[in-house]
Amino acid sequence: MASYETLLVERRERVAVITINRPDKLNALNIQTRQEGAAALDELRDDAEIRVVVITGAGDKSFVAGADIGEFEGRTAVTQRDVMTGRSLFTAVDGFPKPVIAMINGFCLGGGCELAISCDLRVASERARFGQPEIKLGIIPGGGGTQRLTRLVGESKAMEMILTGEMIDAQTALTLGLVNRVVPHEELEARTMEMANLIAGMSPVALRLAKEAVKTAARSTLDEGLRREVDLFAICFSSKDKDEGVRAFLEKRKPEFTGE
Ligand code: COA
Repeated sequence: MASYETLLVERRERVAVITINRPDKLNALNIQTRQEGAAALDELRDDAEIRVVVITGAGDKSFVAGADIGEFEGRTAVTQRDVMTGRSLFTAVDGFPKPVIAMINGFCLGGGCELAISCDLRVASERARFGQPEIKLGIIPGGGGTQRLTRLVGESKAMEMILTGEMIDAQTALTLGLVNRVVPHEELEARTMEMANLIAGMSPVALRLAKEAVKTAARSTLDEGLRREVDLFAICFSSKDKDEGVRAFLEKRKPEFTGE
């Protein structure tokens, strides 16, 4: 695995943990972090040992406090557009063929919230705070915030977060469906790894197709989505993992999925 300046990448058996490592800047996403994040995902995508990825922030205070505001100053509209239309970390996470879990240990703001909602699942510390504060800087979310957040929590709440820029706490985020679980701060890592390991025991083929099928729901009509689901379901039937899963059930034992 390559080494990165702004990230730590750690393998824990079948789960890889990517830690955004700029705690003195509350893990704000600068261009380098975005590029390294996308590169780390490229490596992990091709690593058959790794079945689930967890993304978190270094330190005890912040997941990611947004884009690095220091990089905004003096940047032209054309450069900014190039930055955002280049290879996006958010799109890389969204389209990653394995489940990605955000382990949210604190501030989850702006591009941090956009990163979290690009992930497939979110486990939050009770201390986490969420927000899209871009409006306070005279800009709007540009990493999918207006689109993914709206699909996740509905127009009314997304509009409120985006127009006021105010933060919400972890319990409110749970009520809105913005996160899957809220856990005591000290238990965040253990509870997230528990979920990651549970998922890592499933068939990689089925995980990949399940993710694709669920993502199709927000991007198609119901009829198109249902057709896609049947196609993906049928593909599962050609996998050795499906044979193993069915056999293991009938033989009353735990399946050993290989991803074939
Ligand atoms: N970009 C660049 N630097 C950031 C940052 C960001 N998004 N968020 C925090 N930092 C830096 C601060 O400038 C400070 O650096 P310094 O010690 O060199 O001055 C350091 O991280 C610690 O932040 P600080 O503001 O002192 O912590 P706090 O606990 O008082 O406040 C926040 C925490 C998250 C409320 C506050 O940092 C904040 O509002 N950040 C910006 C959030 C934002 O607008 N994100 C969207 C950007 S589009």
